[in-house]
Amino acid sequence: TQVSKDGFEHYMLKEIYEQPKVVKNILENREEIYNSNFSKEELEQIDKIYIVACGTALHAGQNGKFALEMLTGIPVITDIASEFRYNDVFIDEKTLLIVISQSGETADTIGALEKGIRYKAKTLSITNVMDSTIANMTEKSMFCNAGPEISIASTKAYMAQLTVLFLLSLDIALKLKAIDTQTFDKVLASLKEIPEKINIVLKDLTAYKEIAKELKEVNSMFYIGRGSDFITAKEGSLKLKETSYIHSEPFPAGELKHGTMAIIDETSKIIAVAAQSGLDAKTTVNVSELKDKGAKVFSIGTEENEVLKNNSDITILIPKTIDLLVPMLAVVPEQLIAYYTALAKGNDVDHPRNLTKSVISE
Ligand code: G6P
Repeated sequence: TQVSKDGFEHYMLKEIYEQPKVVKNILENREEIYNSNFSKEELEQIDKIYIVACGTALHAGQNGKFALEMLTGIPVITDIASEFRYNDVFIDEKTLLIVISQSGETADTIGALEKGIRYKAKTLSITNVMDSTIANMTEKSMFCNAGPEISIASTKAYMAQLTVLFLLSLDIALKLKAIDTQTFDKVLASLKEIPEKINIVLKDLTAYKEIAKELKEVNSMFYIGRGSDFITAKEGSLKLKETSYIHSEPFPAGELKHGTMAIIDETSKIIAVAAQSGLDAKTTVNVSELKDKGAKVFSIGTEENEVLKNNSDITILIPKTIDLLVPMLAVVPEQLIAYYTALAKGNDVDHPRNLTKSVISE
């Protein structure tokens, strides 16, 4: 069946704009997520969690690690499915293996899951296709319910994966009494504010288009961030590569001085994600160092960070939320920057060259 573009020029833009609704929908049906989770008794047997996926789904998982570790206190290891399949891993019946896949059909993720099952891990999947190979293989399966994602560059599925992961983290934490109901309610209340806050980020497109105009001329660029801002940097960099064919490298801001700084000059362009309170001040120092070398810096931060604003060529301000949920807001400007850069370059936004929606061979 043909999915309509709802008056948008491309599926990618339509799907970016669907994100508030996607989050809202999952939150309204959150009982389904809790009911699809393991029981308290089963969770009590777990001593570690592996999250395994590919591409954008892996980035969602890497953000999920922060939430799971913070709320449940259980150590979480994330891995790329194509590596996990062949690496030595530490899994047994006390391991919870979470696999994340928009399509539910990615070959390497299936391979990783087969390995987890062989090693007797408890298995849980997060997919956007209910009747998919991966959803059918795992003991527990959670459904993103984001609607069909047509654009090859994933946007709303990522947002849905984040939402499900945060709800899952809350549910595990509450069942294990790692958090009290007040903390649970506080995080949930913040989650409920996210759709409206995404809408704010989607309102004024001027800055995204301006940055796209700057980026369309470059052959190579960088994304930096710390903590989950670094994961957001990785996702933004991937989005830009996929749609605009610009070489782009994400790395933790603190690593700048360990090599990459040698490349920086007046021609360099950097997107800095500095939206996590506490860590944003550190990234801001790196931004001013980049400015000193003559680089152009475009930043994503929150209203409170005046220093970041003063040191950046363009600053995008996202609404404040709790640190845990910042990735849901900080990624949206990056999606739009990638979209408008691809558009400015005249690329086929929804069907980037050499890529497929679902990678069903190794
Ligand atoms: C491909 C897609 C990406 C996606 C990745 C994992 O590379 O183009 O958008 O993130 O596969 O796909 P999955 O369906 O497992 O999430």
